[in-house]
Amino acid sequence: MLNIAVLVSGGGTNLQALIDAQNRGEIKGGKITCVISSKPGVYALQRAEKNNIPSFVIPRSEYPDIASYTAAITEKLLQEKADLIVYAGFMTILDSQIVNAFPGRMMNVHPALIPSFCGKGFYGLHVHEAVLESGVKLTGATVHFVTEECDGGPIIMQKAVEVKNGDTPEILQKRVMEECEWKILPLSVSLFCQGRIKIDGNKTIVE
Ligand code: GAR
Repeated sequence: MLNIAVLVSGGGTNLQALIDAQNRGEIKGGKITCVISSKPGVYALQRAEKNNIPSFVIPRSEYPDIASYTAAITEKLLQEKADLIVYAGFMTILDSQIVNAFPGRMMNVHPALIPSFCGKGFYGLHVHEAVLESGVKLTGATVHFVTEECDGGPIIMQKAVEVKNGDTPEILQKRVMEECEWKILPLSVSLFCQGRIKIDGNKTIVE
């Protein structure tokens, strides 16, 4: 069984999707063993507590820079013996220390079809605002491995949905979450835990 550590910063609906999948027996070969939040008091922490998953707060605001913050998160993950680290609405960009400590063992869910609408500044609702502003007719979500390049690592899975007339950023965010993120994130985690994702340069082979 691989130890899955989930990093969060907010509401934690993606964490909930992982917990629900685990409770249905759909995370094969892995178990969520800890949740780490970059912010105190967020609802994701209550979700962990309700499901008896150990949770820890390592507040970004208490560290002077990204290097010291990354070192603290990395140390905690090593202590917790994490085998897979999942960024599930984790809103801090960490530096190379963590990528070097867990190469090919960190994944992120992004609320758009990478390489569109991604990179620095594209997070949360801002992504959906930019999608609506651009006039594209399709959007979706991407699960990818985390590398030093923000939203730039090998793509594991993507799912698309239509942008509809009358969409607001909030309505579109809900559709992308429900129809894309909450499906492809648990599936990607389960495939990883079964050893069914191989990294080949900047691509993955999922079997
Ligand atoms: C999700 O839409 C996630 O994809 C996005 O933030 C939301 C968090 O929701 N993540 C990013 O934008 C990271 N670049 P949640 O806390 O309810 O899972």
